[in-house]
Amino acid sequence: MPRPPTRMQGPNRYKLGLFGMNCSGGLTMTQAPERWDASFENNRTAARLADEGALEFLLPVGRWHGYKGETDTAGESFETLTWACGLLAATREISIFGTVHVALINPICAAKQMMTADHIGQGRFGLNIVSGWNIGEHDMFGIGVRDHDKRYDYAEEWLSIVKRVWSEDEPFDHKGEYFDLKGVLGKPKPWGGEWPLLISAGNSAPGRAFAARHADCLFTSVREMEDLPEKVSDLRRQSGGGAAIFASGHLICRPTAKETDEYYHYIVHEMGDWEAADYTAEIRARGGSSSGARLAQMKEAIISGTGTYPVVGSYDEVAETFRRLSEAGVDGMAIGLVNYIDDFPALRDEVLPRMQRLGLRV
Ligand SMILES: Cc1cc2nc3c(=O)[nH]c(=O)nc-3n(C[C@H](O)[C@H](O)[C@H](O)COP(=O)(O)O)c2cc1C
Repeated sequence: MPRPPTRMQGPNRYKLGLFGMNCSGGLTMTQAPERWDASFENNRTAARLADEGALEFLLPVGRWHGYKGETDTAGESFETLTWACGLLAATREISIFGTVHVALINPICAAKQMMTADHIGQGRFGLNIVSGWNIGEHDMFGIGVRDHDKRYDYAEEWLSIVKRVWSEDEPFDHKGEYFDLKGVLGKPKPWGGEWPLLISAGNSAPGRAFAARHADCLFTSVREMEDLPEKVSDLRRQSGGGAAIFASGHLICRPTAKETDEYYHYIVHEMGDWEAADYTAEIRARGGSSSGARLAQMKEAIISGTGTYPVVGSYDEVAETFRRLSEAGVDGMAIGLVNYIDDFPALRDEVLPRMQRLGLRV
């Protein structure tokens, strides 16, 4: 059976997915009691809401340690491939990604796990490939983090093996800089014999080049709206024009601007965990993540959404923000919500219809 098209290939000009709900607290470092409880039951409920609400995808965060402080966001997190398997079995149409740290898992084992997820979802699985930056997490595995650019060399070789496992029918040998493998074979192949969708979110020059070579969707960081069209068209050009360009953000919206301001103030300034924000900025800088220095200056956005782009405003304002992002060339966004179940009705019943009226979604 051929691999069926998914919503990721569908007609919506601005695609949306939920980001980070496999982690306690989601993307938010707040002590507000409604913060996200990432039980599997809650994940399944949110996944079904997103599926029935016609969102395109779910993207988990691959995390092995939390961000400390009182909140310890992501201190509890589900491993993303097994999480994706459970949710693919519980949903019908939405695409679900697994986020894989290449250094932490053997590519042959990962290729088979991903193929299994892909069959469970009948072609709805996707891979978010991550080269790694979190030193403490890698130390826990006893391997340390490679120099920044070497991480992408390793990812390149890792992915080339996975793609061969997914494609080749006869056993093959592989001898590279990092792997020396004999008689490699994996069956069955991914659903429909085609590779799952691949996304990559490298932000540095080698990270962007890696993504441009391999990914169907590249993630870019949004800093200033003014620079964005140029940045997006550069990325698109680098990928040969074939890849979609996505961004990551978090959504905080209420009916009016005043109500949103009050709620944002409560989440960030009254209940925000500044200790966790300090720690997050520090470990990102230490890991050589190119966003580290910038993160130190944007602790508020770390608290409201781990440093992703804040889409904050009234229903009209957030729909307008999505329109501006779309106009800048962005094809979609992975968004965190403070609470993926309680906040979903506002997205579904208020924001999506406004996006429809703006021609962003059908
Ligand atoms: C949408 C998105 C998802 C990401 N998911 C993860 C993740 O789950 N785990 C992780 O360790 N890093 C994650 N990252 C970090 C990137 O993989 C990458 O390390 C970071 O953007 C720094 O880029 P660089 O490695 O090119 O410097 C994510 C980044 C983005 C924008």
